[in-house]
Amino acid sequence: MVNPFEYADPVAPPQLVDRHAELDMLADQLVGTHNTRIIAPRRYGKTSLVRAALEQARNDGLAAVYVNFLGVLTADDVAVRIERAYAESLEGSLRRWLTGVLRTLRPTVGVGGGLPVTAQVSPQPREAALLDRLALPRRIAEKSGGRCAIVFDEFQEIMRAGVGIDATIRSEIEQHANVAGYIFAGSHAGMMEELFADRRRAFYAQARPLTLEPLPADELGDFVAATFEAHHRDAGDALGPLLDTARGHPQRAMLLAHHLFAQTPANASADTDAWSRALAAAFRDSDGEVQATWGALSLSRQRVAAVVADGTLQLNSAGAGQRYGLSRGGASAATARSLAAEGLLAQDPGARSGWRVVDPLIEIWIRSGRAWPAE
Ligand SMILES: Nc1ncnc2c1ncn2[C@@H]1O[C@H](COP(=O)(O)OP(=O)(O)OP(=O)(O)O)[C@@H](O)[C@H]1O
Ligand SMILES: [Mg+2]
Repeated sequence: MVNPFEYADPVAPPQLVDRHAELDMLADQLVGTHNTRIIAPRRYGKTSLVRAALEQARNDGLAAVYVNFLGVLTADDVAVRIERAYAESLEGSLRRWLTGVLRTLRPTVGVGGGLPVTAQVSPQPREAALLDRLALPRRIAEKSGGRCAIVFDEFQEIMRAGVGIDATIRSEIEQHANVAGYIFAGSHAGMMEELFADRRRAFYAQARPLTLEPLPADELGDFVAATFEAHHRDAGDALGPLLDTARGHPQRAMLLAHHLFAQTPANASADTDAWSRALAAAFRDSDGEVQATWGALSLSRQRVAAVVADGTLQLNSAGAGQRYGLSRGGASAATARSLAAEGLLAQDPGARSGWRVVDPLIEIWIRSGRAWPAE
């Protein structure tokens, strides 16, 4: 039997827990051709949410285009990603029209696969190919009178593609009022902040911010219980510990639910034994990733993360020094802020340290002495 809890890939709109208000807001923004930026930690459901928003936009009659910038290295990469996204997203007569239009654009160079590249006749500005592809919504508006809904996912990655590329992108899309609405999504809060909130950066004040909070326990609980029930199982006594452990983290909640489901036979109720086995499976499942995240942190960052995960200490306390080797002074607060910019920590006024570890499984691993707790 197929496990109904998906935790690796973005989920389809019917599997989306909560996010109703966010979805309504995004749909309104897109129809009104307004821009939005979503900043949320990794695995918080950004891609699932923007895909649902695009589906809504398509139903509202817009041409919906999803572009993911993960791994781009050059302005040409950015151009190619955009071109492919249009080629994959447009439908019907617009799609046929695009097939011809793409052949009239100034060429990208060094494209692996895709369209054959004609030799350049005259030198062109380095970003000419990108500008042509960014202008596609205006061409679509001229052609069909229609508007576009466009998602730029992992948007912070454009910063890797060259100095000033954000200014190039803005120079075109600031002409898209009444032509296209954009959603910029990113998991690196610090870099997104730099792009959008820093006055020196070109995108200053360009897009309305949307923050994704943890999923509420009641909606999450309803979804897990109902999905178990639909498959002739009862989430039973395991539901409480599952919700407590996941703390609203969307991907961790689905990972735990997935393993709990796998431990629960048909027509049975999940008991505490099933929960223990599910938790152990979830630990094994996330082990490589947790180790890699920890290993990528410098010693001083590990120390700050350990104090935060501990949950009983203030950053500047004697205990933080004794137990985790953290030296006293202002530096640890700055380190915590920079860990938050990377998405590892989030502010938590209720916590002793003022912070919490975003990923509840990483927190457990750190708190248990950089190891998984024994049964
Ligand atoms: N609203 C939600 N309802 C149910 N599950 C969710 C929700 N949001 C996220 N998830 C879970 O989190 C997983 C990751 O979702 P998604 O890929 O959309 O997140 P992301 O923020 O785009 O992640 P990444 O940072 O890796 O790009 C999904 O497979 C699903 O298990
Ligand atoms: Mg994503």
